[in-house]
Amino acid sequence: MKMTSRSFSRAALASTLLATTVGASLLLVTSAGAATTLGASAAQTGRYFGTAVSAGKLGDSTYVNLLNREFNMVTAENEMKWDATEPNQGQFNYSGGDRILNQAVSNGKRMRGHALLWYQQQPGWAQNLSGSALRQAAINHVTQVATYYKGKLYSWDVVNEAFADDGSGGRRDSNLQRTGNDWIEAAFRAARAADPGAKLCYNDYNTDGVNPKSTGIYNMVRDFKSRGVPIDCVGFQSHLTNSAPGDYQANLQRFADLGVEVQITELDIAGSNQANAYGAVTRACMAVARCAGITTWGIRDTDSWRTGQNPLLFDGNGNKKAAYNSVLDALNAGGATTTPTTPTTPTTPTTPTTPTTPTTPNPGGCTASVSLNSWNGGFVATVKVTAGASALNGWRVTTVLPAGATVTSAWSAANTGTTGTVTWANVAYNSAVAAGQTTEFGFQGTGSAEGITSTCTAS
Ligand code: XIL
Repeated sequence: MKMTSRSFSRAALASTLLATTVGASLLLVTSAGAATTLGASAAQTGRYFGTAVSAGKLGDSTYVNLLNREFNMVTAENEMKWDATEPNQGQFNYSGGDRILNQAVSNGKRMRGHALLWYQQQPGWAQNLSGSALRQAAINHVTQVATYYKGKLYSWDVVNEAFADDGSGGRRDSNLQRTGNDWIEAAFRAARAADPGAKLCYNDYNTDGVNPKSTGIYNMVRDFKSRGVPIDCVGFQSHLTNSAPGDYQANLQRFADLGVEVQITELDIAGSNQANAYGAVTRACMAVARCAGITTWGIRDTDSWRTGQNPLLFDGNGNKKAAYNSVLDALNAGGATTTPTTPTTPTTPTTPTTPTTPTTPNPGGCTASVSLNSWNGGFVATVKVTAGASALNGWRVTTVLPAGATVTSAWSAANTGTTGTVTWANVAYNSAVAAGQTTEFGFQGTGSAEGITSTCTAS
């Protein structure tokens, strides 16, 4: 029999286990083969198995039982999208996202954030913006939402579906795209600045084989990697019918070879060949070491957005379908071992974050430091205020902006002035800062803020 690279990897893994843990290896192999849920089975090779979750279904006991039994990763189906999280400009609503996150965390699951910027499911106010007003609103959205969920999410779909289906390999026309081709990298930089711990993904559909669209994305990721734009993962939605493209695995592998994690993010498969196709997709992920996991876009057929197509792993009564068994078998068969990566800060960013030197702490005083996320014509500044040896009851920060920079909006502090020397006072809820602790505020503006300085005084 010809030895495939997959079977070779498994053999190599098995012999490593035997060589290093002779006593335990039999037990490991036995228990590995016996996993009976999707999540536990995927975990044997360091992968996850996830599902999209809708907050409105968390009261349905059949749904929640399946969720808790089978899945160890969760994506909010709609609740973390722009229209849900910022229904009015500058007013954020995290209630639906938080319900899902709390359910996930309290049951030991992790969560993928979905999606910070997308041409669909934008709030009406954003649909009506364009140019620099839209760019600033979009970057502020990324900053605010990623900051709110900082440290809590496995990954973020920072940008969703930005490439065209027209065979050109180019970008999709959208209000976001019309703000300038650099909108995607500006979004990734803002997301990294806000939550350095989340893996940052680009996510899209019809990218499941090697085709002009996936190649356009491949070229973007390669370019981002070469210029130090922070990107950690690429999501392949995989909304399929009857089969995956024959080069599905090869396509995942070429992205993985760029040094990004690959994730199957919204899998659902309609059609009579469903069970086979689910098996093939799962085996492809298992064969790619950097394929971190699979998420299906819902639990039961009745939960699917593809109404009437029955594309999921459980029927409407919550029973396992043939497709479920195909997936479980493929997960249990093992695969290339994943090597989890931690997001790394880019070494050579073209518009670097430039924390200013913190001011010398006065006894009982405070320090302020500014991080900038800049793009051509605008910036977001995040200011950390840190209390000195004693607690603060209130604080003031003075920033000096370079000529041409103008503050256009701010959060978590009240400003006096918008150009040159601008002072910032705490708002009611962040006036008290314990000794040595930090609070944050931020602002965005037009022009360049490179060279901004900041000083802090306790008030
Ligand atoms: C879908 C949801 O499942 C629906 O409930 C909603 O009405 C529309 O969006 N690509 C994506 C997902 O990235 O966010 C979409 O989810 C499905 C296609």
